[in-house]
Amino acid sequence: MSDFHALKISQIKQETPTSVAVTFEVPQALKTSFSFSAGQYITLNHTINDQQVRRAYSICSAPSSGELTVGIKKVANGTFSVYANDQLTVGDVLQVMPPQGTFTLESNLQQGQHIAAFAAGSGITPVLSIAQAVLEQESNSSFLLVYGNQTKQQAMFYETIEQLKTQFPDRFFVEYIYSRSQEINAARGRIDKNVVSYYLTNKYKQTSFKDFYLCGPQAMIDEVSNTLVASGVSKSHIHFELFTTSQAAVPETIKEGTTSISIIVDQVTEQFTMAQNKTILEAALEKQLDAPYSCQGGICSSCIGRVTQGKAQMRQNQILTDSEVAEGLVLTCQAHPITPTVVVDYDDI
Ligand code: FES
Repeated sequence: MSDFHALKISQIKQETPTSVAVTFEVPQALKTSFSFSAGQYITLNHTINDQQVRRAYSICSAPSSGELTVGIKKVANGTFSVYANDQLTVGDVLQVMPPQGTFTLESNLQQGQHIAAFAAGSGITPVLSIAQAVLEQESNSSFLLVYGNQTKQQAMFYETIEQLKTQFPDRFFVEYIYSRSQEINAARGRIDKNVVSYYLTNKYKQTSFKDFYLCGPQAMIDEVSNTLVASGVSKSHIHFELFTTSQAAVPETIKEGTTSISIIVDQVTEQFTMAQNKTILEAALEKQLDAPYSCQGGICSSCIGRVTQGKAQMRQNQILTDSEVAEGLVLTCQAHPITPTVVVDYDDI
């Protein structure tokens, strides 16, 4: 099920003091597998200090560029992000899974379409790819980027964004917001409901935005999304990608009991008994099943499976729609079995 390929790093660019852009060389034979839509991510797998570490990073390059580049911001106490920033070098080889993800540019990008994006911190990574794709694909479109950081020095891809502004002066608009520094041509504060209202109903009130792309921490996404909905934007036009989420506790309803679980991966069924206070993904990985996963935090959606018998309860879910949940889909990194018998099929999604 896990479809990793060894890719060599062809370039590493220091974006900010605490982030790098890492570009991979994709051999001709893998070009099709690694073609991507703007907004998708790749999963990297590497052994660090004898531990296998798997992380998902969004692609920041435009699909038309022919480059596969991800942005990696150093996270305090992070394993992979610290390694990538401090130790990775050009020529190193990482295991890379082909692009995945549904936070993509709507395929029905139309003539003269106006799009707005709100990105905070490293949430700029997929948004940058989407912005480039919009500006390149549709010459009558426009793109508003509202980009929040603590300081200008921490703003990833600042130079690239400024170059895009020069390239598309009449169609690409950027509003920088810094919470900890005062800069010329930038607002002070953070992306909140007042910021959203000011740009949409005041500064850009002449522009009728059709789709909105949000990427950053959960609190920002919730606030921006709620503000947009309150101002009449349909939820179907609000697209978001969580970059951090608070890990939910095991629900109190989860018992100390056990479940007889059958897990189907690549048409092979493995049956065993697992504790209900573990997630289905944890149990699958302990049994060394090749179940798909990446973030293990309920963010990326790569661990989706279908419960075809019995029931499972998710700790949290910001990805699956109500109808998908009703169909039996679960994020297995968040799902606990709650009936004596459960069958989960990773192939049937
Ligand atoms: S592994 Fe990312 S949502 Fe489950």
